[in-house]
Amino acid sequence: MSGLTLWFTGLSGAGKSTIANIVERKLREQGEQVEVLDGDEVREHLSKGLGFSREDRDTNIRRIGYVAKLLTRNGVVAITAAISPYRETRAEMRAAIGRQRFVEIYVGTPLEVCAERDVKGLYKKALAGEIAHFTGVSDPYEPPLEPEISIATVGETPAESAGRVLDYLAAHGYLQPARTVS
Ligand code: ADX
Repeated sequence: MSGLTLWFTGLSGAGKSTIANIVERKLREQGEQVEVLDGDEVREHLSKGLGFSREDRDTNIRRIGYVAKLLTRNGVVAITAAISPYRETRAEMRAAIGRQRFVEIYVGTPLEVCAERDVKGLYKKALAGEIAHFTGVSDPYEPPLEPEISIATVGETPAESAGRVLDYLAAHGYLQPARTVS
């Protein structure tokens, strides 16, 4: 595969990282070079010290987008998994990386489901008013209007969701045909 960015977007706890990691593994098994840029991880390193104001989120997203661009132009499949709540900023990344090389994946798990799962215990705090500017609760999330792939997650396993991404890539000619074993 020539380089590509798979840009996951969705609420905290929607399942972005889980699905991204399965897609990563599957693509590696197919011989692709893959790198995951996960929001939580990036914030520990590249974006350490940034908060959750619009300005800081945009800075975070632009840094992730910049690294994704470098990877993409060198033939790597860059998979990003940050909330990336702002439509305009995502559009900016699409333009920077190149429309042909950018696949936006909306992980549209509803807020109630994310809050119910509450893997990190943050929704409980946010709903109690203890975290200001929490995405979906006290800060905006702008869902994509025309994502290449939209995943509902409710009623399907993460492996099935990842399968949808791989199917899309195959159907749209992003994946090499399976190599024949001689
Ligand atoms: S983004 O908005 O800049 O794209 P990013 O994906 O890097 O966000 O980080 C989101 C993660 O930070 C969440 O999954 C959650 O664990 C944590 N977090 C802490 N505070 C907030 C907040 N106010 N809003 C959203 N996520 C937060």
